[in-house]
Amino acid sequence: MPATPGGPTAAPNTAPAAAPARAAAPALPTRPRILSGIQPSGRPHIGNYFGAIQQHIQLQDQGEAFYFIANFHALNTIKDAAQLRELTFDVAATYLALGLDPKKAVFFRQSDVPEVTELAWLLATVTGMGLLERAHAYKDKVAKGSPAGVGLFTYPVLMAADILIYKSQLVPVGQDQVQHIEMTQDMAEHFNHAYGPVLVRPEARLSPTPKVPGTDGQKMSKSYGNTIELFAEGAPLKKAVMGIVTDSTPVEAPKDPQRCTAFALYSLFANESERAELAERYRKGGLGYGEVKKELLARLEAQFAPFRQRRRELLSDRAQVEAVLRDGAERARAVARQTLAEARRACGLE
Ligand code: ADP
Ligand code: TRP
Repeated sequence: MPATPGGPTAAPNTAPAAAPARAAAPALPTRPRILSGIQPSGRPHIGNYFGAIQQHIQLQDQGEAFYFIANFHALNTIKDAAQLRELTFDVAATYLALGLDPKKAVFFRQSDVPEVTELAWLLATVTGMGLLERAHAYKDKVAKGSPAGVGLFTYPVLMAADILIYKSQLVPVGQDQVQHIEMTQDMAEHFNHAYGPVLVRPEARLSPTPKVPGTDGQKMSKSYGNTIELFAEGAPLKKAVMGIVTDSTPVEAPKDPQRCTAFALYSLFANESERAELAERYRKGGLGYGEVKKELLARLEAQFAPFRQRRRELLSDRAQVEAVLRDGAERARAVARQTLAEARRACGLE
């Protein structure tokens, strides 16, 4: 795949415990169509925030943004209806509390636009098994014990439909989703090759911190039990931060900041000179990991505590959140219907 502005080559950061790279985001096309989704498969965490949510909110001013809660996708993991509803509202309240403005961005539930499942079927008929068999996310999940379900296997086809039905140009995501967007590009190309130029090729856009490590040093993920939740507070927050796995180098000894998960997480909240200063203290020796964790805890509080009250209000006013999602669904559906009609005509269904 060629390097594209804002594409996955923009800010590589592969070492899980390394300090995040901070490349400046390249310029966007004028008012691009932007789209992204997040699964309500658990509570949003700081990996979701620094990989995705933060740039979603920033980008709402720079294009026509469509953001949705991927509840069809979450059915692969959540089998309890009440829990799925609750987590869906939690994700909605999180975005709204953090500044998503429903007047600027179209914000909706994936399942409120059922047209997307029909486009997923059309895409499935132009997709080879080999393409899906190469998906890392599927292989990783199955390797970690998830049942090898058909829904999990065909997940990238539904995700491609999510993207293509809105003719999205930019898809802001974390590193783990880049392969899915490359698969989407392939599916769009196969469809257009068979039926004519209906679908638009999307590009991934990575944040400067596209791979946030979890408390155990692996990628932070709802499914790995290694998250720091965005809206954790009090004892559970402290427990998560103090539980960050570090090595057993004694306090006096010099340490390598690049190999430390606590340093990588602190770096998310620090500016260039603060990072350099802390790195220097690591190298000099005499710095305990506990001290770094306490500083990280203070930074987490400073950044997210101001939004807690707003989130609580939204969670207790479901009608308000529901109204936002319904209005978003109507606006999203108008676009989705049009693309689906073009696709149906192109393949001879109409
Ligand atoms: P999870 O892996 O926790 O289930 P999702 O799959 O719902 O998270 O991801 C929602 C968005 O957050 C996606 O754009 C994804 O790439 C991003 N994301 C998830 N985990 C991380 C992480 N550890 N670092 C950076 N971005 C992440
Ligand atoms: N697969 C994404 C994730 O787990 C969620 C998602 C579903 C998505 N459809 C999408 C992201 C379309 C971007 C675009 O994070």
